[in-house]
Amino acid sequence: MDAHAPLIMFDSGVGGLSVLAEVRRSCPDVPVIYCADNAGLPYGTKTEAEVAARVCGLLGRLAERYHPRLICIACNTASTIALAMVRDVLNVPIVGTVPAIKPAAEQSQSGTIGLLGTAATIRQGYVDRLEAEFAQGKRLLRAAAPELVGAAEAKLRGEAVDPAVYHRAAASLRDQPGGAEIDMVVLACTHFPLVEEELTAAFGPTVRFVHGAQGIARRVAHLLDGQPVQRREPDLALFTRDGAELPALAPALRRYRLDRIGVL
Ligand code: DGL
Repeated sequence: MDAHAPLIMFDSGVGGLSVLAEVRRSCPDVPVIYCADNAGLPYGTKTEAEVAARVCGLLGRLAERYHPRLICIACNTASTIALAMVRDVLNVPIVGTVPAIKPAAEQSQSGTIGLLGTAATIRQGYVDRLEAEFAQGKRLLRAAAPELVGAAEAKLRGEAVDPAVYHRAAASLRDQPGGAEIDMVVLACTHFPLVEEELTAAFGPTVRFVHGAQGIARRVAHLLDGQPVQRREPDLALFTRDGAELPALAPALRRYRLDRIGVL
């Protein structure tokens, strides 16, 4: 294993930073390339075929160019649609992001769980299977919250976001039959933990949130255990399209120790 081989973290945008924050805690020294497919953002409104084609194509290019030690798909939409395909075609260990239905079901007292994700994620059979396996006897209410993706992106660019966005997301679960009983909400999109504070204010104190970042970080740390790691240069944030948002995101990227920006 080359000590300089990077860990590649992949998302459609800045959402994967919520996973990177946890990975940094458990593996502070591993070199990271964070890739945001901003040319394809948002994934959540795309078809399964479109998402699968982008994710497989881009990860193939990244693997060829950077010889990563591991790829982490820090995106629920990409993982629930394309994880198995990517694992079939790439000869690199891949860690995906799975909606945290299991811990939510374990922690729910009321037995009613909310799940906020992208439109593409909430319709996946992958989510149906997690529900059948881990939330038997519970009620799982799902809602698509596409506006939260844009809100998280805007927040990280340092822009103000109208709080009505968060209240609409809360209402999309609360207003469903049984929605008033929700005590746990699965944040099934990696963008959403970036606005968890705002969501807490919108949902009120009776709801707790759960997401998969810590579990992913534990899995990554386990797979990298014992590998040599050495950072040769500052970690890179790589985008698939140049644009005005790149300099606007630079201060937020630096907070995640991504001190260089490039375009694929
Ligand atoms: N961050 C992504 C996820 O976890 C998707 C956001 C989007 O591109 O719609 O699902």
